[in-house]
Amino acid sequence: MENYKGFIFANWDEDAIPLVDYLGADQLWYLDLAFEAPLGGLEVIGPTMKFRIKANWKLAAENFAGDDYHVLYTHGSAFQIGFLPDYDTLGDYIAYFGHGHGMGDISKPGRAYQNDVGMAQFLGPEAIEYVNAVHERLKARVSPLQAEMHGLGQGNIFPNLSWIKFGVFHVFGLFQWHPRGPGEIEVWQTALFDRDAPQSVKDFARTQMSQENAAAGIFGQDDGENFEQITESARGVVSQTRDFNYAMGLGHEARSTRRDTPAIWGTIRSRTTATSIATGSNS
Ligand SMILES: [Fe+2]
Repeated sequence: MENYKGFIFANWDEDAIPLVDYLGADQLWYLDLAFEAPLGGLEVIGPTMKFRIKANWKLAAENFAGDDYHVLYTHGSAFQIGFLPDYDTLGDYIAYFGHGHGMGDISKPGRAYQNDVGMAQFLGPEAIEYVNAVHERLKARVSPLQAEMHGLGQGNIFPNLSWIKFGVFHVFGLFQWHPRGPGEIEVWQTALFDRDAPQSVKDFARTQMSQENAAAGIFGQDDGENFEQITESARGVVSQTRDFNYAMGLGHEARSTRRDTPAIWGTIRSRTTATSIATGSNS
């Protein structure tokens, strides 16, 4: 059993490698932003929500580990109604780490901070003060480039612990995908937020998460339906004789071109990034 910044991990393998080696320095380069940004540390808000999805758990884990191809399609309605800003301002690249971990919807350095500043203007003076305080705290506690990253995206710690964290107004959401056989997941969803954030900001973050990646949220329902339909389609006699095609993106991996951001790097097929890749401009 080991503890990383308050998060306790355990397994039954007496020969397990140390936790920080398993999580890996590259992944922690990003994840540390979620742990270091909160002014008063993280606290759990609300109960751990438990619900079941008639789907194979690997679909959910993979979804968070870097399947950003689905975002503009599965969640297209959320963008159309203005629930979220333009996707190109949110996600820029995907990162893959050792031991099977991955993350996606990582924005260009500086973008997440810009988004939060814009959101703060909308939420009011307390929120503006809060964004500035968190950003200053990051600058004091992590590297300049990490502080410039400011926000994260979502990821999966192999095998079945997913997380999501977009900027300072977003909760740090954890999803534990417990398999209940090959065709059903019991989801344990927990939301954490900054203990010392203003109450108005806490309330916004909790409400926003309920409307987004939760059992009754827009994104949670979109994804859950996909997971169920794929599981159902793959259950058939003919489907059982076929392998999944996992070749998409193979051969296009690269080291990050975002200065020193770590990890094996993949690109998101948003309209702008797809165009910039096709034309060779990758700024
Ligand atoms: Fe999704």
